[in-house]
Amino acid sequence: VAVRPVALFAMRSRHVAEVFTPAVLQQIQQVVRLDPDLVAERFDLPAVRRALAEAEVLITGWGCPPLDAATLAAAPRLRAVVHAAGTVKAHITQACWDRGLLVSSAASANALPVAEYALAAIIFAGKGVFALRERYRTDRVFTPTAMLPGIGNFGQRVGIVGASRTGRRVLELLRPFDLDVHLADPYVSAAEAAGLGARLLPLDDLLSRCAVVSVHAPSIPETYGMLGARRIALLPDGAVLINTARGEIVDTAALTAEVTSGRISVVLDVTDPEPLPSGSPLFDLPGVFLTPHVSGSHGNELERLGQCALEELRRLVAGRPLANQIHEQDLARSA
Ligand SMILES: NC(=O)c1ccc[n+]([C@@H]2O[C@H](COP(=O)([O-])OP(=O)(O)OC[C@H]3O[C@@H](n4cnc5c(N)ncnc54)[C@H](O)[C@@H]3O)[C@@H](O)[C@H]2O)c1
Repeated sequence: VAVRPVALFAMRSRHVAEVFTPAVLQQIQQVVRLDPDLVAERFDLPAVRRALAEAEVLITGWGCPPLDAATLAAAPRLRAVVHAAGTVKAHITQACWDRGLLVSSAASANALPVAEYALAAIIFAGKGVFALRERYRTDRVFTPTAMLPGIGNFGQRVGIVGASRTGRRVLELLRPFDLDVHLADPYVSAAEAAGLGARLLPLDDLLSRCAVVSVHAPSIPETYGMLGARRIALLPDGAVLINTARGEIVDTAALTAEVTSGRISVVLDVTDPEPLPSGSPLFDLPGVFLTPHVSGSHGNELERLGQCALEELRRLVAGRPLANQIHEQDLARSA
């Protein structure tokens, strides 16, 4: 029997119990040698330094400090980082890539609840539920003639911005419906989009044609303010824009102006800034459905991240290819 590699937890310590159920923790300990009570929240403490000297694998999570050159120098046996959360950009430094560390993340597991939230929002938006609810609340009566034109999920044009891990999952979830799905993503070909069940369009065309648009692009320099005043104005009257990605992809002032006029509605799980200042009109406007950045993993969904890490550790230790390996060259266009 091969010797189990030595592993070390590195994250905000409260996340260990949230992400790793006792059963998963037990299974992890069958795969690696791990002291579950030692959680590195910082790398400069003596006990952590001693553990780093032996560690071959770091199991990281939210709050893991950056793995800088000094930390790596203290971890001569380290060969892999298995991240039980989304993006690795906060802790994986250039020194990690230079060192040739294997890096894996649970971002695809974290994408699932975001995609579920987006699916719910897309279906409600297509049906006109957000607007009809507001109208009923205001008028206190409802007559069939007040029904909104163009509502319904039969042939509704839906636009997905970004075939990211999240965007791809949304496209998969949209398959059973009778929707007309479009995709804007500069890194995807028309053939690949068709394989994903969507018609590829340039972003401007997608915005002009789709009454329901869901944003799933990463926040990178080329996407900051990607949906500014000019592009938001392309959306058809009555459109619903859904953002579960990052607030800074959409110009907040332009968005606020269009929602204030009542021309479009929005579903926002993310904003810029975040949190919003308490006086922001986005809290009170009838065309805004606002949630506090909750579409990612929370509650029992956190356990999926722990399970994802366990499965990745099993692959790593068995010498099988990782399922969720992160490659340095993909990072510039990833979340
Ligand atoms: N609200 C939440 O709780 C929550 C949770 C997780 C992720 N997110 C956010 O969701 C978004 C997607 O995350 P992910 O991990 O699925 O992303 P990802 O890293 O998988 O996305 C990368 C892909 O996005 C596409 N892309 C890159 N540039 C683009 C552009 N200019 N226009 C359109 N598409 C482009 C490319 O296909 C690229 O491969 C990110 O903004 C992320 O921060 C939010």
